[in-house]
Amino acid sequence: MKILVTGGLGFIGSHTVVELQNEGFEVVVVDNLSNSSIDVLDGIEAITGKKPIFEEFDLREKPRVQAFFQKHDDIAGVIHFAASKAVGESVEKPLQYYENNLGVLVYMLQELKKKHGASFIFSSSCTVYGQADKMPITEAAPVKPAESPYGNTKQVGEEIIRDTCKVNQDLNAIALRYFNPIGAHPSGKIGELPIGVPQNLVPFITQTGIGLREQLSVFGDDYPTEDGTCIRDYIHVVDLAKAHVAALQRLLAGKNETNYEVFNLGTGKGSSVLEVIHSFERVSGKKLNYKIVDRRAGDVIQAYADTKKANKVLGWKAQSSLDDAMKSAWEWEKIVRSSS
Ligand SMILES: NC(=O)c1ccc[n+]([C@@H]2O[C@H](COP(=O)([O-])OP(=O)(O)OC[C@H]3O[C@@H](n4cnc5c(N)ncnc54)[C@H](O)[C@@H]3O)[C@@H](O)[C@H]2O)c1
Repeated sequence: MKILVTGGLGFIGSHTVVELQNEGFEVVVVDNLSNSSIDVLDGIEAITGKKPIFEEFDLREKPRVQAFFQKHDDIAGVIHFAASKAVGESVEKPLQYYENNLGVLVYMLQELKKKHGASFIFSSSCTVYGQADKMPITEAAPVKPAESPYGNTKQVGEEIIRDTCKVNQDLNAIALRYFNPIGAHPSGKIGELPIGVPQNLVPFITQTGIGLREQLSVFGDDYPTEDGTCIRDYIHVVDLAKAHVAALQRLLAGKNETNYEVFNLGTGKGSSVLEVIHSFERVSGKKLNYKIVDRRAGDVIQAYADTKKANKVLGWKAQSSLDDAMKSAWEWEKIVRSSS
């Protein structure tokens, strides 16, 4: 079966392409390389023995999207990763984020509703929960007002899909709310490639560990948590990728209960910033240079997933520990730096 993976050369997309190919799917990737490198195709081929079909274009070009679906009229499903994801940048450039994250989503759905029984998987985020009232967070927790235009694109994106599914009963969609994806493929062939200063904790840690950044700032140690630092649910990107295959297979097999479903994807375990640092120090054998600074605006105290729904309904469970994920992130950092 032919599956379109938009943003398939990005961090989560590339790992998902590997898992899809391992399961025998024929994959077509569309990416404009705005936040990824063409070399990722070689990495995917090195792992799976197969290069996915690749088309380089910008999905904001609606005529190109339409022409793509005419050419590949046998696409059975779409996993839609392509989006802009830097929270800070989204505050500076909200329209750019709304155009890329929502305009493109609308174009995809307009094409998919022309087909019969198409399957659609959407990259959502735990940011939709804001600071949830109860831990762990279930899918029934209320969606809180977004803290940034980026966060808002995920909330509105989910609403656009839900409303579209309501009136297009043979369109089947799943929104996957990721917690905090980290790590890299154990082969060392693909991983996260942040451009510029990393926005996320783990690439900042590994870049500091390798000497590319001088020091990591830990934003606040006076939160009401055990060690005072914020708590997140860090999930290995390979586990996350496998969940996409499980969700897609559910839709393709017609096992979904309704034509729009939502799942949390996390490990179910919260780890504090200091625990992540200590995990890095354990697996790398290095002491990390970090300092505690003031809290950062917009950070929630803690967010970790209740994963029972995904475990039961998708038959999927995250397998890797925090140390496994940190080890793979560190190995990847060393490989990237030795080749640059
Ligand atoms: N990484 C995270 O922490 C995280 C957490 C929650 C949700 N998400 C969501 O998951 C998805 C994938 O995230 P990622 O971390 O792999 O990001 P990424 O930036 O590594 O991958 C996105 C890919 O999409 C491509 N792309 C962006 N706009 C495009 C366009 N207009 N046309 C064609 N290609 C385009 C980029 O070049 C890139 O290869 C995004 O939707 C993101 O918002 C990510």
